Amino acid sequence: MEFRQVVENRRAVNFFDPNREVSDDLLRQIVDTAAMAPSSFNLQPWSLVVLRDHEEKLRLQKHAWGQTKVNEAPVTLIVLADMKGWEPGHHFVEKNFDSMVEIGMFSEDRRDWFHNACSNLYGASQARQVAFACKNAGFFAMNLMLAARNLGVDTHPMDGFDIAGVQEEFRIPENYWIPMLIAMGYFRSDKTLLPPKWRKSFEEILVRFD
Ligand SMILES: Cc1cc2nc3c(=O)[nH]c(=O)nc-3n(C[C@H](O)[C@H](O)[C@H](O)COP(=O)(O)O)c2cc1C
Repeated sequence: MEFRQVVENRRAVNFFDPNREVSDDLLRQIVDTAAMAPSSFNLQPWSLVVLRDHEEKLRLQKHAWGQTKVNEAPVTLIVLADMKGWEPGHHFVEKNFDSMVEIGMFSEDRRDWFHNACSNLYGASQARQVAFACKNAGFFAMNLMLAARNLGVDTHPMDGFDIAGVQEEFRIPENYWIPMLIAMGYFRSDKTLLPPKWRKSFEEILVRFD
């Protein structure tokens, strides 16, 4: 599919065919493509909880305003954004630095500099930690929805849910913010998709304040 076509055809689909599965292979392909998303210092502070089981999805649905797509979609994802994914000593922070040394981007003696840069940029306040986690996880999530569409799979992002409730229900550690849920599957053929929604124009998007 042409890139423009993929972007235009991605819609937040409200009705999923509960009888059409997304195979593990397909899910892996989608996630592998999504993982190519850019991130701050390549820290990739995103993770996914994958729910396929009917009972598990019902447990999620009760914290998600009862949205039926949570349960109808064959796969529902809890997107996690690691607010501590910049901290010195964190497994992926160190793995990331090691890999930058390996490709010759940094020398080993720059590790402290790297830790300080990350701490100053992302650790300065709670707001900065949430922003760090969510902006990067957002890029990942967008890539995931486009990757899915490119393979003919529909999605629906949701922030209509109770974060604390989901966190407790699925025992998600406190270092994670939950930026969204994503229902994933195939649009139900007996339903009609709403017409595409309006978008801001070029002129409406461009601003300045001086
Ligand atoms: C972060 C985010 C959260 C959203 N949360 C919900 C939600 O909880 N429930 C819902 O029905 N739609 C939700 N949506 C879908 C939007 O309403 C939808 O993307 C928007 O109206 C544009 O429609 P389109 O995606 O079909 O182009 C959400 C979208 C985003 C990006």
